[in-house]
Amino acid sequence: MTDQRFIHSQWSSRLAFILAASGSAIGLGNIWKFPYLAGDNGGGAFVMIYLLCVAAIGIPIMIAETLLGRCGRRSPINTMRALADEAKASRIWGYVGWLGVVSGFLILSYYSVIAGWSMAYIFKIGGGFLSHASSEVAQQVFLDLKAAPDVQVIWHTAFMAATLFIVSRGVSDGIERATRIMMPGLFVMLILLDGYALSSEGFGQGVSFLFKPDFARLSGESVLTAMGQAFFSLGLGMGSIMMYGSYLPVQVSISRATLAVASADTLVALLAGIAIFPVVFANHLAPTLGPGLIFETLPIAFGQMPAGRLFGTVFFILVFFAALTSAIALIEPTIAFLSENLGFNRTRASVWSGIACWFIGLGTVFSFNAWAEVSWFGKNFFELVDFLTADIMLPLGGILMALFAGWIMERTLTEAELGRNRAYPLWRILVRYVAPVAVAVIFLRAIGVL
Ligand code: PHE
Repeated sequence: MTDQRFIHSQWSSRLAFILAASGSAIGLGNIWKFPYLAGDNGGGAFVMIYLLCVAAIGIPIMIAETLLGRCGRRSPINTMRALADEAKASRIWGYVGWLGVVSGFLILSYYSVIAGWSMAYIFKIGGGFLSHASSEVAQQVFLDLKAAPDVQVIWHTAFMAATLFIVSRGVSDGIERATRIMMPGLFVMLILLDGYALSSEGFGQGVSFLFKPDFARLSGESVLTAMGQAFFSLGLGMGSIMMYGSYLPVQVSISRATLAVASADTLVALLAGIAIFPVVFANHLAPTLGPGLIFETLPIAFGQMPAGRLFGTVFFILVFFAALTSAIALIEPTIAFLSENLGFNRTRASVWSGIACWFIGLGTVFSFNAWAEVSWFGKNFFELVDFLTADIMLPLGGILMALFAGWIMERTLTEAELGRNRAYPLWRILVRYVAPVAVAVIFLRAIGVL
């Protein structure tokens, strides 16, 4: 493992890793996706399954993925190949890395479009177009954005350019600096929104929708969605945590660092949900607004609170930054692969992957207007890419990593990495048995076999 060509760089400290990994985890998945999925899937029961998946599947796999990265110290594809060689296992494991590169790439294609919506909202709220907006006005503003592919393409382009600009500047320079400033800001803004929600008349109803489980409303597909969301939100199963783990100094405790990241991620998702649902109920909106949920509800809240125009503008700026730090993680495995295997420098790798990803993103832009009626298996382009990546590819990638860390790698090796303590045997049971079986059962239930 000492081939210098592959060693990219290292985090300056444990905190730098935690910040960057939280930057990857906390993003649109928490603020945009979690609330609308909870809304679409009936609330409490979905949230409960989601939390269970984070604890029993997500965290152990996050530990496994970070560990693989730190042992391999190169891009996911090459890490998996090298570790397989070392364990005298088949090089087929390299395909886990491939799966990750492809999923990150596909996710970024639509992620950039939605992040573009948040950028548009910085100006809509900042420009005062939503001040004191009624729910009708807020809904109309969102409908207009959805119906305008040209506007969405402009913002999609701007977001993709911003991402690739930071990525091309390299790990410690770009990523660390951006994350350090913005994450605490986002947290403060969410607390503020929760304070507003607390004073709204929809608070009780919103909170009980989010936390009171009604399992009768939960289908097999909803359970799959909850699990997929756990992978998506933690940023697991596609090699980006593996990349970040590969920059992690050896003396840092992987389990403690990942636990901090997972807790922060979950907290932010819940805070976002608590901010949004009271507004939904106070304004007699349906929780099932889908991907438009935060864009149709939060402007109403900002429109009503004092200095809401300022807070709303700042909020969407912070969402933009949260999305940016996740986007960087999504494309990082592709960049590392292009530079290690094809000899691209970072700039060239960024430009080419950015262009390709931008192009695929157009499919998502059109999913909300021109192609809204075009569907495959009952899903439009955006829904299909989202389903394939979050609900299938990430869990599959994650499980393969868990199996690799639990069954293929030498116990002595993983034990040395994680430290011999009471949590180690528990982790080993979770990655060897619990997580793989749980994912398999959820997959089989969703396709109706169980
Ligand atoms: N976790 C990010 C979010 O919640 C998205 C992401 C997925 C980032 C997979 C990296 C890897 O927005």
